[in-house]
Amino acid sequence: MSRSPTEPCEPRIHRLRTPSSVVEAPAAAAAILLRLIENSRSCLIVVDPAVAATGYGSSVIGAVRNAAAASVTLSVDVEENTPRDCVRRLIDLASVAEPDTVIAIGGGSTLDLAKLANAVGTVPQVQEAVGVVMRRPRASLIAVPTTCGTGSETTPFAVMLDPAGPRKRGVESGDLLPDQVVLDPLLLRSLPSAYVAATAVDALAHAVESSVSRFASGLTRCSAHGVIREIVLNLPRAVAGESAALARLQTAAASARLLYPRTGLTTVHALSHPLGAVTGMHHGAAVAVLLLPASRANVGACPGPFAALAEILTSARAPQTDQDRAGWVLDQLADLLADLPLRTLTAVPELTGEQVRYIASEAMTSSNIPSNPGPVHAGMLEEVLAECLSNR
Ligand SMILES: [Fe+2]
Repeated sequence: MSRSPTEPCEPRIHRLRTPSSVVEAPAAAAAILLRLIENSRSCLIVVDPAVAATGYGSSVIGAVRNAAAASVTLSVDVEENTPRDCVRRLIDLASVAEPDTVIAIGGGSTLDLAKLANAVGTVPQVQEAVGVVMRRPRASLIAVPTTCGTGSETTPFAVMLDPAGPRKRGVESGDLLPDQVVLDPLLLRSLPSAYVAATAVDALAHAVESSVSRFASGLTRCSAHGVIREIVLNLPRAVAGESAALARLQTAAASARLLYPRTGLTTVHALSHPLGAVTGMHHGAAVAVLLLPASRANVGACPGPFAALAEILTSARAPQTDQDRAGWVLDQLADLLADLPLRTLTAVPELTGEQVRYIASEAMTSSNIPSNPGPVHAGMLEEVLAECLSNR
């Protein structure tokens, strides 16, 4: 639960794990990558095929392949939501290529794929999740995000789709954390507007959920509030394709995920993973569908953390009581979402009652439940899902 800055509380220790460097490199991804791999002997590039097919994406890859001193292996074998078999295939490819450096260029599925395959030789939880037992050293990992939402480039987490269940399995390890991050907003220029919107709403949710988390503190809230402001201000212009706004969203997305290993998230993300596993929905789209219903279900029990966001959105028109301010905040977010080109991605497929109960029960096992700002029970999550279905 939130505390006032002057309220006495137990000392909090924030263990920070971040990439050793984040390079902001507008229009310079190829030059920076070549500098980062100048001592590499063998480099494996894992790239989203949609990015490899763009003019700028192919020019970056081509420049690295042609100018690198290292031998370069390229893989475009990437699937949405990172299915387990896809991870196994990349592990097999890496066994042949034996890279000392892995470069991952793409959205969350691409980055998580490279993170998991790269850590399989050193992280038992990855071996257990993927079903592969082996020992081999971890290569240096360079993450180059091409969306403005996942933030996977700055976290020690990766999520994989296990067909059993089906369920999304999350793994946490310092060995999953990329060593270097390269942020080049030109890589976002070819992203369709629906994916700009969906991935940015994912980043917005990371920051909103982090700021209302039961484990939020002054330190984490300060950064989260800046991220929320940056996304709200720039999202409409980024969706319209404005380069400067895309660049600011890319930075905000990376910043948002620097925060949340310290706070946990809420029922929005707890539900998004099983909903995505059952329906195949894009992660950002699932989050966009869940953000308002799941947040409204929390506001009744704990309006305070949501009400605090009123000052960020705009203080002039916000009502006075916590309950009213919290509702007003969610209305502002609803207006923002209503204007986004999300319809093609956010259609929730029909779900059976059994699937709804399964998604809710899976969500109750999520690591994001303890950090939810209010009490949670499976019936409450089933009601959130029912609201999502009624909004179709
Ligand atoms: Fe997310």
